[in-house]
Amino acid sequence: MFILKKNSLKSLNAFKNIKLNNLVLKGKVNVPGDKSISQRALILGLIAIGETVIEGILDSEDVFFTMKAIEQLGGKIKIDKKNNILNLTGVGLGNLISPNKPIYMGNSGTGTRLLIGLVAGSNATVTFYGDDSLSARPMDRIIKPLEKMGASFVFSEQKKLPITVIGARKKGFTMPIKYKTQVASAQIKSAIMLSALTARGVTTIQEPYKSRNYTEKMLKECGVNVRSITKKKSVNTIEIDGVEYINNHKFIIPGDPSSAAFLIVASLITKGSKVTVQNVLNDSMRLNIFKVLKKMGGNIFIKKVSPNTCDITAKFSKLKNISLKISDTVALIDEFPILSVAAACGEGKMSMKGLRELRYKESDRFTAIKTGLIKCGVNVITHGNDMEIYGEKNIKGEAEIDAKNDHRIAMAFNILRLVAIKPIKIIGNNSIITSFPTFFNTIKLLSKTS
Ligand code: S3P
Repeated sequence: MFILKKNSLKSLNAFKNIKLNNLVLKGKVNVPGDKSISQRALILGLIAIGETVIEGILDSEDVFFTMKAIEQLGGKIKIDKKNNILNLTGVGLGNLISPNKPIYMGNSGTGTRLLIGLVAGSNATVTFYGDDSLSARPMDRIIKPLEKMGASFVFSEQKKLPITVIGARKKGFTMPIKYKTQVASAQIKSAIMLSALTARGVTTIQEPYKSRNYTEKMLKECGVNVRSITKKKSVNTIEIDGVEYINNHKFIIPGDPSSAAFLIVASLITKGSKVTVQNVLNDSMRLNIFKVLKKMGGNIFIKKVSPNTCDITAKFSKLKNISLKISDTVALIDEFPILSVAAACGEGKMSMKGLRELRYKESDRFTAIKTGLIKCGVNVITHGNDMEIYGEKNIKGEAEIDAKNDHRIAMAFNILRLVAIKPIKIIGNNSIITSFPTFFNTIKLLSKTS
């Protein structure tokens, strides 16, 4: 059961076995709310003064577990299911409740890492744990800076979940730090920023490339002084002041561009298709996937509808593969699985460089993309963390793909099913409930048999 609909898993199951070959996709659809913004809205609501209103929250399992965590930490939530409005009364900054039970975060890396950061700057003690996929993901990347800020941790040798966080204010103060992250990661940056809210002074974070900046934007909306300075193209510095309190806000959440990307690629690779995804978050970094697909010859049209939203239309196109630079990686971080499917159907060599971070997502996506495409008859060559995909006129299919509990791998290979000559069987479609429970339902809505 999720936030709005009791039967999200049921509806996923109902459509999971729809026949995906020989479909033409036509029509206009919406995708559910952006996952990154939904989770941040809940987290900021927990520490804001008064009532936070969240409109259009993503109704998925990751957000559900973050919401349950917020309740365990003291937040009071009321939901108007009909209008998709959530009201959250927070506990105020630094006043988190230490729950008497460990908090289960399911599959949610963003929810976990951001909440660990938040607890690190509080006086609470909290244990987090998750499913097998989340328990295999690295947490040392946030533990290191948060320890410097005064938080303590209890964890296994591998520094993975389960982890107990003892907030810095339990025994003293949150220290402002100057920290250079090794990788450009919004999750690392956000964990430090959330802890820094209770620090006495200015915390400075430097990342090698600019990662998605919703924590910065949303904290500003709540009255926090956050400065972002991009001196060289590739270095982003954030300064954040410690504060006494943060204001409440009304967050309106547009559709998730990462979810839209699956439908847009589906439309690009299936003959006769034309799909419009409406009310998508208009954020240049997150729309980068559509710019890349356009460069590949994709017939894509983006129409700005409001300062914050756009409609994206895509028609069947003959795609031509291209070379991507390392600097493209951050903006496409969640889109490589579906971009690789587009490349498998494109003409020529797709070259993608610097994909190391893909190994640390919900699954080792680098390996999953490579082995999955090869099984489906596509030539993929890798050199270290670089990958070359050689497009095929016809995708052979006749493969069984284990999505390894990774929603984006499952969705990407389901889209490849649309064009495969012989069936592709996906193991692990249930993982799709973490971000896009209506995925199959939406394809069904768009589908006309050719
Ligand atoms: C996210 C950041 C990204 C992304 C994830 C959501 C966020 O992870 O892959 O799906 O909301 O901050 P990294 O920051 O670890 O790259």
